[in-house]
Amino acid sequence: MEVKKAVILAGGLGTRFLPLSKVVPKELWPLVDEPVIQKIISEAKDSGIFEMVFVLSPGEKKLLDYIKPDLKIEKVLEERGKDKLLNQFRKDQSFFQNIDFSYVTQREPLGDGHAVLQAVKKIKDEAVACLFADDIVDSKTPCLTQLMNVFKTCQKPVIALYRLPQDKISSYGVVKVEKIANRVYKIKEIVEKPKPGTAPSDLAVIGKYILTSEVFDYLKKAKPSQERKEIILADVFGEMLQQGKVIYGYEVEGKWLECGNKLAWLKSHLYLSLKDPRFGEDLKKFLKEIK
Ligand code: G1P
Repeated sequence: MEVKKAVILAGGLGTRFLPLSKVVPKELWPLVDEPVIQKIISEAKDSGIFEMVFVLSPGEKKLLDYIKPDLKIEKVLEERGKDKLLNQFRKDQSFFQNIDFSYVTQREPLGDGHAVLQAVKKIKDEAVACLFADDIVDSKTPCLTQLMNVFKTCQKPVIALYRLPQDKISSYGVVKVEKIANRVYKIKEIVEKPKPGTAPSDLAVIGKYILTSEVFDYLKKAKPSQERKEIILADVFGEMLQQGKVIYGYEVEGKWLECGNKLAWLKSHLYLSLKDPRFGEDLKKFLKEIK
């Protein structure tokens, strides 16, 4: 089985990003001069995926506007003779050509598992990539390609993992594992946001997965958790593991750039801006000046 489709979760309320997220959904916040979501779409496209299903919150259409060609702007640039800008704009727009985009709506914010479930009608009996809109990995080989390479041989769900220091790990899903090859693990247990000092390892879950139809079967039966009243993917994986199902983890190569809270986003934005050949050197000089 090959992965040909990606489900991209972009339906969160963005409460950690208020008040700006009232008007700019968090997946459209910039990284250098592109929205975060562009990196996710690139990751999928560079991994050979040309069918993408967005899960959006009700009435949220700005993301769809962003990927749609804007002929009005093209016309204005043409009339004003701004050839350089026009060429760049056309190039940027053509990035989305050949991708088959569709979307489903998550009417209530009932968890990441619930979000994935909304996309079920767009998925046949197939394995899909599932990408959270706020987890970027800066790497030579796209993170999703790395997971797909593991899936090629194991044909089981695969979760992206990243090693973090103990003082940071409590904000994430954390896994107990058995190592089976370089960077490849069999997942034994998954604990969502463990209390400090109780994490089963230093391997955190990044919001990037390969999901199989078996995961969807479990998701369809899942009940909202008592504590959070949400359907959480980590809980569903936990149940699968308890019933002896096999799930793999892959410690991804690259740098995890989180964009799920303001400080993490600022760091990611700065990191990429400093690396950008257009702005990096000037920015470094500026940082020295102001420190
Ligand atoms: C979610 C997942 C968590 C994962 C994290 C990665 O948490 O539930 O397992 O480690 O994404 O960003 P959230 O960001 O919704 O708190």
